[in-house]
Amino acid sequence: ALRASFASKAQTQDRTIHYNLQPQASFRVAVLGAAGGIGQPLALLIKMSPLVSDLHLYDIANVKGVAADISHCNTPSQVRDFTGAAELANCLKGVDVVVIPAGVPRKPGMTRDDLFNINAGIVRDLVSAVADNCPGAFIHIISNPVNSTVPIAAEVLKQKGVYDPKKLFGVTTLDVVRANTFVAQRKNLKLIDVDVPVVGGHAGITILPLLSKTKPSASFTDEEIEELTVRIQNAGTEVVEAKAGAGSATLSMAYAAARFVESSLRALDGDGDVYECSFVQSDLTELPFFASRVKLGRKGVEALIPSDLIGLIEYEQKALEALKPELKASIEKGIAFAQKQT
Ligand code: NAD
Ligand code: LMR
Repeated sequence: ALRASFASKAQTQDRTIHYNLQPQASFRVAVLGAAGGIGQPLALLIKMSPLVSDLHLYDIANVKGVAADISHCNTPSQVRDFTGAAELANCLKGVDVVVIPAGVPRKPGMTRDDLFNINAGIVRDLVSAVADNCPGAFIHIISNPVNSTVPIAAEVLKQKGVYDPKKLFGVTTLDVVRANTFVAQRKNLKLIDVDVPVVGGHAGITILPLLSKTKPSASFTDEEIEELTVRIQNAGTEVVEAKAGAGSATLSMAYAAARFVESSLRALDGDGDVYECSFVQSDLTELPFFASRVKLGRKGVEALIPSDLIGLIEYEQKALEALKPELKASIEKGIAFAQKQT
């Protein structure tokens, strides 16, 4: 059975933290962009994990205080801070999972692609350092536009001769978290049980929740399908507008990213029952990268799960075809950017 939700894991974990301060595993995790809106709460949530022995926090500024603060929590992992490019190599050496939320967020009126000019170079340079210092690590890319930054990361890793497509992930967990929340609210379901796969990419219409595949099975009217799909696709913008210039989703994103980190660590630790949606290299469609449910294992993506894409309802089938040109263009833009640099 699929792990129902992060909430159920978190509850187990809370009990563990209160009654057992011994580490259950010794994984090293680095957060690049750790002083930011996502980075700070994400670092705190990772500090709660009994699977982590070392937590390395990197940013270009202001990370010392964040690390000092988080390090006082009486959970097992050791926290270290690293500031600026000169300390990046030391931050990354020996790390098992690298999470990258570095970069600028949207303001109202912007698309995620409007962030490309700044964030593409940030991701390129950080992933280049990952390639040099911890080429075997799982890499979780949060920085937007994810539809382009993941292909950029892949190209950089290829240029360095260390690309392992099984270990490069675009973090789309927030789309699943949102879909689960909105569906549970609308259908009055027990939140902890709801699991909605979200496929495609991570921007606008490329975000495709497969409501017909909701577990436990639920029936939706055509209007509900349309409304819920559009709400899930625009949920990032909903937060950007509510924050009115102060950034985009940070707290729910940290929650979602921590779930993906925890799933990755469980997989690295040998749990054979770990499934998450993620934007990865894929042959499920004609596109080279595609978000789908994947089975995670010790070596990264153990299998892509094709079954969610079989037997789609007409609305989803049409939406799947409609998203492909935009997703393809974003992927190609990322690849062209990375290839132009060499
Ligand atoms: P933020 O501005 O609050 O924080 C970004 C941090 O990155 C800052 O601390 C900054 O100093 C740091 N940074 C900038 N350049 C860096 C570099 N070269 N090396 C290391 N650190 C660097 O922004 P945020 O709200 O945390 O958002 C970060 C990114 O995450 C944005 O691109 C945003 O669009 C994206 N995001 C993605 C998702 C998703 O679902 N994948 C969700 C929310 C936000
Ligand atoms: C989100 O989905 O919340 C993020 O991609 C941030 C954004 O710009 O919407």
